[in-house]
Amino acid sequence: MTAHPIPMLGRPVVRVAEVGSTNDLARLLAAGGVSEGAVVVAARQTRGRGRFGRTWTSPPGGLWCSLLLRPDADAEWGLLSLAVAVAVAETVDRVAGVRSVIRWPNDVLIGTGKVAGILVEAVPGAAILGVGINADIDLHGLPDDLRTPATSLAAAAGRPVVLSTLLDVLLDRCAWWYAAWTRRDPAVAAGWSARDATRGTLVHVHGPEGMLEGVAEGIDTDGALLLRARGGGTRRIVAGDVTLSFGN
Ligand code: BTN
Repeated sequence: MTAHPIPMLGRPVVRVAEVGSTNDLARLLAAGGVSEGAVVVAARQTRGRGRFGRTWTSPPGGLWCSLLLRPDADAEWGLLSLAVAVAVAETVDRVAGVRSVIRWPNDVLIGTGKVAGILVEAVPGAAILGVGINADIDLHGLPDDLRTPATSLAAAAGRPVVLSTLLDVLLDRCAWWYAAWTRRDPAVAAGWSARDATRGTLVHVHGPEGMLEGVAEGIDTDGALLLRARGGGTRRIVAGDVTLSFGN
C-alpha cells in the first residue's frame, strides 16, 4: 500500500493587502513552478469570483485565500471540492463552536446562512483551491441579491474571530482531508454525507441542462449529486447549483 503522508500546507504563505482574486495570483505561482502547499491570502479582493463566474464580495474581515496543490493527474477530481468542503466545515465548527452543514457541492452553511464558499480550478499540473470564509465582515455591505443569505463566523459565535487562527485551523483541516482524498479514503464521502443539508428534501438544481427539480438523495461514490426526479428515476448531477424549493 502506498503511504500518503499528510502534506504541509502554508509553505509559504503569500500575504497581500489587496488583489483581484487570490485564485489568479495562485495560478501565476503555479505557472511559475511554485511547489504544492503555497497559500495566497488577501486582506481584500477587488474581483473575487465564485462558482459559475459569480462575483464574490470580499471586504476586509474575511478570510480570502487560495491553496496551491499538485495532485496526481489520475486522481478522482470530483470528490476534491467535497473534501475541501468538509475541511472548511470542520474549521467553521472549531472556530465558531457551531455545527455547520454543506449544500452540494461545497457551500458551507450555518443554519440557512452561507458562511463559506469554495472555488476549485484546475490549471496545468496543479489545482487551485479558493476558499472564502465570512469571518468577521459587515453583512450589511453585501449585495441584497445574494442567492443565499449570508452569515459570518463572528455573528454565529457572538464574538470576534482572529483571522490568523482561522487560517491555521483551515490549513490543518485541508491537509488532513486532502491526504484522505489522495488515498481515496471513503471517509471523504462519509464526512460530506454526515453534513448533507439537503438529503431527503425537495430541491431545484440549476445547471448546464437547465433547471431540474427533485428530491436530493445524497451523493454517488464520485461525488455526483443523486436527484430523484418527480416522474421517478434517479439522475446523477455532476455540475450545478442547488436551491431549496422553499426559500433560500
Ligand atoms: C462560491 O461559493 O461561489 C465560491 C466562492 C469562492 C470565493 C473564494 S475567496 C478566495 C478565492 N478567490 C476568489 O476569487 N474566489 C475564491
